[in-house]
Amino acid sequence: MRNIVVLISGRGTNLAALLQAARHERWRDTLDADIVAVISNRPQAAGLDVARAAGVATAVVDHRSYAARADFDAALTAEIDRHAPALVVLAGFMRVLTPAFVQHYTGQLVNIHPSLLPLFPGLRTHAQALAAGVRVHGATVHYVTDDIDAGGIIAQCVVPVLPGDDEAVLSARVLAQEHRLLPRAIRLLLQQRVRWDEGRVVVHEAAPGDLALLAS
Ligand code: GRF
Repeated sequence: MRNIVVLISGRGTNLAALLQAARHERWRDTLDADIVAVISNRPQAAGLDVARAAGVATAVVDHRSYAARADFDAALTAEIDRHAPALVVLAGFMRVLTPAFVQHYTGQLVNIHPSLLPLFPGLRTHAQALAAGVRVHGATVHYVTDDIDAGGIIAQCVVPVLPGDDEAVLSARVLAQEHRLLPRAIRLLLQQRVRWDEGRVVVHEAAPGDLALLAS
């Protein structure tokens, strides 16, 4: 069985979507894969309760307990590697990771970011989109590399930006699609329809609707 470990920092709605897909689609049977652990850098993250409710093992590696970023990453690596993961999914994990960490999980580490990368990396992506006046916005699941929010793109979802939108409305519209996007992207990876090969993304027989989700 291929183990999936999910890293979170907050409310965990993307985690919930992933857990629901894994259960409904019976990933254990159909994909020989399962979400085996959820790790948070914040002890109070609501997503930990989501994981517990689903019967998934949880752990906290509190970044405040480590003076240096490298020490935190080493502790996090040790916790993750207890599960010998095939895939590590960052689902609202709000820490910058060291190159050593990223290197350790080359081709196995993916993130969901709430913008159409390479537009609007970093924080407050919905405010950035509104300020830029774009007519479409969305989210991206991508491989994690040393440069923040810049790794190879796996799949994206697109939503309209409507007149009168504010940050909250727009972020809710994107989030609803993130919940469809993330499970699809992880399924593509588990099916090896998208893989990381020597520094680039290779797509093999993926349906267009899996790589690019268009919501009205
Ligand atoms: C999502 O918007 C995700 O794209 C970003 O952080 C947010 C996490 O939300 N990386 P949740 O914790 O999954 O609800």
